This record gives sequence, structure tokens and C-alpha cells, in this order.
Amino acid sequence: MSTILLAGGAGYIGSHTAVELINAGYDVIVADNYANSSPESISRVEKITGKKIALYEADVSNAADMEKIFSKEHIDAVIHFAGLKAVGESVQKPLLYYRNNIDTTLTLLETMAKYNVNNIIFSSSATVYGEANKVPYLETMPRGECTNPYGWTKSMMEQILTDAAAADEALSVVLLRYFNPIGAHESGMIGEDPQGIPNNLMPYVTQVAVGKRECLTIFGNDYPTKDGTCTRDYIHVVDLAKGHVKAIGYILSQDKCCDIFNLGTGTPYSVTEIVETFERVNGVKVNHIYGDRRSGDLAECYANADKALEVLGWKTEKTLEDMCRDSWNWQKQNPNGYRG
Ligand code: NAD
Ligand code: UFG
Repeated sequence: MSTILLAGGAGYIGSHTAVELINAGYDVIVADNYANSSPESISRVEKITGKKIALYEADVSNAADMEKIFSKEHIDAVIHFAGLKAVGESVQKPLLYYRNNIDTTLTLLETMAKYNVNNIIFSSSATVYGEANKVPYLETMPRGECTNPYGWTKSMMEQILTDAAAADEALSVVLLRYFNPIGAHESGMIGEDPQGIPNNLMPYVTQVAVGKRECLTIFGNDYPTKDGTCTRDYIHVVDLAKGHVKAIGYILSQDKCCDIFNLGTGTPYSVTEIVETFERVNGVKVNHIYGDRRSGDLAECYANADKALEVLGWKTEKTLEDMCRDSWNWQKQNPNGYRG
């Protein structure tokens, strides 16, 4: 069976993808510098799957660190999750984001070329569609103007990977544009573990529900949407992880490819719907108030997910209820995340 290197694989999406790849029979290697994670997530993946994982503490932007792994391991494909992802922090520290995110991509591509590893799947984001495109987003739309440095790093890295694929006949690239991943593995053993105050909606909701934070502020209720709050395409992280398994099957079956796939459900839900569904499914209260809009937020963001179904044979299976139940199950079992 093929061996897949997960760069940034100790994080939220990487750890769930590790479980699904192992369940599908792949061997997995993880490289992470724990900038936003801990090795505990991979210990938990080992417990869930009963398989030992080759785990390297490594900076993916550092050529010497990558050499150590590529010279020792046989790698068939790389999934590149490694990156910093806090939108607000990227506005405060743009150079940190450009340096880390772009260097990880360049170093990976250079090391892959040296060791003749020719398949890379990249964690991109719906944010690259920018403000001008109309929902639902289609892969054929042009990338747009991003509202923050984090988004620009994704857009630039897509360009770098596309140019590298055009120049190298052997290199295959798949760009996966994620919508809004939430939820956790149904065991409750792995999940999203944000440091400090969560930036994203679902971890904030679960921390209010568990009593770690007083009250959720819903950012704006005067948007031109069904109930005035923003809508997003929330996707269960396990469905997203299974999308990676399909993408690996696809890239390994092609002589050469350079493809983009949206990974979303195609169905938007509003912030208010998320809060109400979470309260109903879990029987808990989420204190909330309505506040000002958050700068940079779009009113609506959701996918046209047809291409992933047609080409990869992938579609989401889990419901919003599943997402809310599994997020809460993880939070309740791990009130302080992986820190015990
Ligand atoms: P995460 O922070 O949990 O995982 C990213 C991992 O990369 C972390 O374990 C971090 O320690 C590691 N990392 C960062 N810089 C590194 C470096 N230089 N060397 C080695 N490891 C490094 O985030 P996630 O939610 O799992 O996201 C995974 C990828 O998907 C990221 O690239 C992110 O930008 C992208 N993405 C995430 C979302 C989302 O909402 N979660 C949406 C769209 C795209
Ligand atoms: N929200 C609140 N209160 C909060 C947090 C969020 O009302 O405390 C709202 C936001 O205003 C937005 C929705 O909940 O309407 C979702 O917000 P998130 O921060 O969870 O997600 P975003 O859609 O803003 O951002 C996500 C990823 C980014 C990615 C972006 C575009 O976090 O990495 O989608 O795809 F770039």
C-alpha cells in the first residue's frame, strides 16, 4: 500500500485525515513542529486505529528537517496541511504568515523534486474566491481579492503549485478548497484544540456551552441573508478527511494532473441556525448576544460541490446535527483540549 506524508498532520484536519487514510489501508507519516498542535493528537490517532505512526517533530519550511524524512522514508504522496491559519493574527503579523506558509510550500516542493516524489495535495480555502465571485462558488471561477494576509498566502500558494505543475511533467497537484470544517471524530478522542480565545464559531460555541467563556457574540444580524446572520458551508471534519482519501486515490491513479476541488456540502447555514441546532441536539444553552459585524466577513460563502462528486466520487454524508453533536462530545470529554 502507498505511504502518505502528512505535513502539519498533528493538527485538526490532519489528525482526522490520518485516521481515515489508515482505515483505508494507507501507511501514514506525520511531520509537524507543533506550532498549533501537540503530539498527543497523534497518540490518540494511534489509539483509534491501533496502528503505529511514524511521527517527526520537524519544521516543514526547513530543508534539513525535510531531508531527514525524505532520505529515510519511501513517500508516494504528500498532503500539505502545514501552515498558520488565524485570520486576525495574519493581519497583525503578515510577515510571519507569508514566511511560514509560503516557505513550507517551497521547501516541500524542492525536497519532493530532489527525491522524485511527484504527488502533492494542498489544503486551500474557500477564502481564495474573494469578494467579487457570486455564491455558490465553482472551481472555474477566478481567484479573487482576499481580505487578509492569510487568504493571500493560500492564493499565492495555489499559484506556486500550479506553476510548479506546469513546469514539471512529472508533478501532479490537487488543490482542495475547504469550506468551514467543524465537528470531531465520533469517539471524541480527537478534535479541534484552539490555543487561547477561539477565532472560529464552533469552538467558541462549545467553550460557552461548557462554561469556559461567558457569552458568544454573533457578529452582525443585518446581513442580506435569511435571518440577517452570515451563512457558511459547514462541513463535518470526518467527511472532509474522507475527501482527502478520495483525492489520494485520484492523484495516485493519474499519470499527471493539476486539479482543484471544492470540499463543502453545498448547503449554507446561518450563525443563528448553528447556535439553535447545537442547543437542540445537545440539550445545552449557548448564551449569546448580537454584536457588530466582524471586518472582512462575507455575508455568504458556500460551495458548488458537483466536481468532487463527479470526478472523485465524494460527497458529504454527515448532517448539521452530527456536526453539533460530535463537536460537543469532543469538548465535553476534553474541556482543556489535549492539555488534559
Ligand atoms: P491546524 O493549525 O490544526 O493544523 C496545521 C498544522 O500545521 C498544525 O499542527 C501546526 O503545528 C502545523 N504547522 C504550522 N506551521 C508548520 C511548520 N512550519 N512546520 C511544521 N508544521 C507546521 O489547522 P487545520 O484546521 O488542521 O488546518 C490545516 C490546513 O487547512 C491549514 O493549512 C489551514 O490553513 C487549512 N484550512 C483550514 C480551514 C479551517 O477552517 N480549519 C479552512 C480552510 C483551510
Ligand atoms: N462568528 C460569530 N462569532 C464568533 C465567531 C464567528 O458570529 O465568535 C461568525 C462569523 O462572523 C462568520 C461565521 O461565524 O459569519 C463563521 O466564522 P468562522 O470564523 O468560524 O469562519 P470563517 O467563515 O470566517 O473563516 C473560515 C476559516 C478561514 C477561511 C474562511 C474562508 O476559519 O480559514 O473560512 O473559507 F479562510
